[in-house]
Amino acid sequence: MPVPAKISGVRARRILDSRGESTVEVDVASKGVMVRVAAPSGKSRGKWEVQPFPDGGVDEAVERVRELVAPELSGMNADRQQQIDEKLHEIDGTERFIRIGGNTAYAVSVAAALLASMVQKIPLYRKLAGSTKVRISLPLGNVVGGGAHAKGKRTDIQEFLVVPTSSSSALQAAEANTRTHAEIARLAIEKGSAMIGKGDEGGWVVDMTTEQTLDLITNACQTVSLTTGVDVRVGLDVAASSLWDERERVYIYKRDGKRLSEGEQMDFMLSLIDRYKLVYLEDPLHEDAFEAFAELRKKAGSTLICGDDLLVTNTARINQSLKYGSANAMIVKTNQVGTLSDSRRAVEKAQSAGYVTVMSHRSGEVCSGELAQIAVGLSCPMIKCGVVGGERVSKLNELIRIEEDAEKRKALAGMARIPS
Ligand code: PGA
Ligand code: ZN
Repeated sequence: MPVPAKISGVRARRILDSRGESTVEVDVASKGVMVRVAAPSGKSRGKWEVQPFPDGGVDEAVERVRELVAPELSGMNADRQQQIDEKLHEIDGTERFIRIGGNTAYAVSVAAALLASMVQKIPLYRKLAGSTKVRISLPLGNVVGGGAHAKGKRTDIQEFLVVPTSSSSALQAAEANTRTHAEIARLAIEKGSAMIGKGDEGGWVVDMTTEQTLDLITNACQTVSLTTGVDVRVGLDVAASSLWDERERVYIYKRDGKRLSEGEQMDFMLSLIDRYKLVYLEDPLHEDAFEAFAELRKKAGSTLICGDDLLVTNTARINQSLKYGSANAMIVKTNQVGTLSDSRRAVEKAQSAGYVTVMSHRSGEVCSGELAQIAVGLSCPMIKCGVVGGERVSKLNELIRIEEDAEKRKALAGMARIPS
């Protein structure tokens, strides 16, 4: 019988995320042990996500923890994840976590899991994975940021990503990404291109068209692949809902000076896949385009067609996607759906259909590593958590520690692999 972790107190406070915006943090305690989890916050949120904070914002979320959540959770066993998460749903009483906020549900749910793992002295990834051997998730990182994650002159596409597909350790993978990030700056400066700074997720902000940016990144990847022997490949998060004009039914690329119909957007995406050998393509079409996604996926060969705003870590949306064949990869953001149990259900559903699951940060983050513990624990072959910046590197460093721990326990099966 695992040692029970009886909850003795739950407290919340308002703190800052990496963007300087406020978010909620909770402390959950069991005699002599206390864990602290803060919720990340998105900027380009999907319309089908749960509501992050109650009306009234973070202060109201803090108040509701004091008033509603703390009294109900006190005395419960943090190790009973399902019961904790059901209780959070019961306290909230709405479909979209409108009363307590999805970010509060996230922080409390993950804190309960961490508390149980601390009390039982088992790392969280191990507790989640059970007795199976684990693979280290491949880090997918943002090297150029635009769209909703930057201001002023910037790329239309939100995230230009790299992933070291043939790395042999977490450290080697993280370093291949940081080298690529640095090489992009070097090449851009050499060409005299305007580098404006960094976006919310640490990627460079550049005043370039989509193709100019992809040319630059492809060159950087080639250099890094040659010097390190690690194959670094390119991906995109188009975040196409931010480009989509529902009324006019066109995708608007302000920097590129283009307005694309649905068919033209699909052709543009296929041309980028072909020209830049994209290994990963997230949200290439808007968040309700299940059928168009399916058409694109069928033409996209082995490229991972990933749903973020399309699927929002939600089992009902995954079922829709399975009906049409819309995707073969899924972003997992626990606070899109609320609790760890909801997120685990979505991951298991997607994985059983053969989807590559990609555990993901949000653009507003906090400096802690539990995302990596959850990614490895739930067998996600990829983790999207950025390349540089304390709040991004905290996840990469945690991957390095998990690898070391799993090796010691003889529970390591190496780096994850993705079809490429
Ligand atoms: P976010 O989105 O800004 O809502 O975190 C990031 C993403 O689209 O992947
Ligand atoms: Zn996305």
